[in-house]
Amino acid sequence: MSQKIVLMGAGLIGREHAAMLRANPRVELVGIADVSEAAKAVADEFSARFFTDVREMLDRMKPDGAIIALPNALHVEAALACVERNVPCMVEKPIADSLEAAMRLVTEAEKAGVPVLIGHQRRHSPDIAKARQIVRDGALGRLVAVNAMWMTDKPVPYFDVAWRRLPGGGPLLINLIHDVDCLRFICGDINEVMAFTSNAIRSFEVEDTASVSVRFAGGALGTLLMSDAAVSPFNWDTAAGQALYFPHQPENSYHLAGTKATLSIPGMDIWRHETEAGHWQHALVRQHVTLDGSRAYENQLDHFADVIEGKAEPLISARDGAITLATVLAISRAGREHRTVTVSEMLA
Ligand SMILES: NC(=O)c1ccc[n+]([C@@H]2O[C@H](COP(=O)([O-])OP(=O)(O)OC[C@H]3O[C@@H](n4cnc5c(N)ncnc54)[C@H](O)[C@@H]3O)[C@@H](O)[C@H]2O)c1
Repeated sequence: MSQKIVLMGAGLIGREHAAMLRANPRVELVGIADVSEAAKAVADEFSARFFTDVREMLDRMKPDGAIIALPNALHVEAALACVERNVPCMVEKPIADSLEAAMRLVTEAEKAGVPVLIGHQRRHSPDIAKARQIVRDGALGRLVAVNAMWMTDKPVPYFDVAWRRLPGGGPLLINLIHDVDCLRFICGDINEVMAFTSNAIRSFEVEDTASVSVRFAGGALGTLLMSDAAVSPFNWDTAAGQALYFPHQPENSYHLAGTKATLSIPGMDIWRHETEAGHWQHALVRQHVTLDGSRAYENQLDHFADVIEGKAEPLISARDGAITLATVLAISRAGREHRTVTVSEMLA
């Protein structure tokens, strides 16, 4: 029997979730809650009941699971409504727009024992999963330095939606949070950060560009470069070809350099010397790592179905999502206060 799923928010990503739910026989989209007129048509298109209130939908539809694709500031209230009713939920990233709200959800979900999966879909992507395995297997040696880029040009109408250009939105919380989560997943936790942020191109309250330095708990150093106002193929979304509504522009967005080799992602090439005695005056050999061809969003939905059926624990729990959020908020604070910020002080 398929799992009955309700969707909260049928905007940009919510509509993609609706399409994925329709394509997966393990799940059935039974209800959509949204406050916009346009969403009513989406509900009709997907033969789902339409509601304007998420709580009423939960009470009337009694679903097996819920997907929350609302603006960032509404995630926690909606997720708490699910937890109160013992309904497993998948919450789009970021878990919340503040750490206080995130920790409220962590506490309530853990107390009630209701699974909450945070929608960092890249962890379900074969390149990211393989990179984590490569690092853990020691194939790169000791990790030394990490570089990540997320740069692209968002169109002007994207910002007609107010929450995206106000505090609580912005590309650190909407986009770079994915890269931060990936790096945590692959390389381990980040302890401290420094950052410059700028709104020089778009002049919104939130940043459009950031350059970030990080220190991982394992000792490696990293840099992250982000802009939503620069024409560039150097972002995981277009580079990996896994994202839902972007062209595939094969490139690399991450480089992980170790004492034995460097891995580029998502191109998945490992560069190393032919022999242990090799050094900078010797040519490197390139080994391509093949992947299984599965896709991030489909894998994420399958995983959520496993979570609902009790076959798996969330790959990204609320607590894990809160640590990713704390890391991104540390970057934001470092940019504002022009100082080094530790993730532990954010969580204290
Ligand atoms: N994982 C990903 O790849 C990915 C991609 C895009 C967005 N997101 C995340 O998904 C979330 C939604 O982003 P989006 O770009 O789709 O936003 P959006 O603004 O396009 O959609 C949000 C929807 O929520 C509805 N809504 C607003 N207030 C509501 C309320 N009180 N009750 C019910 N519905 C309400 C809006 O009418 C809208 O249809 C954000 O948290 C964003 O960070 C994730």
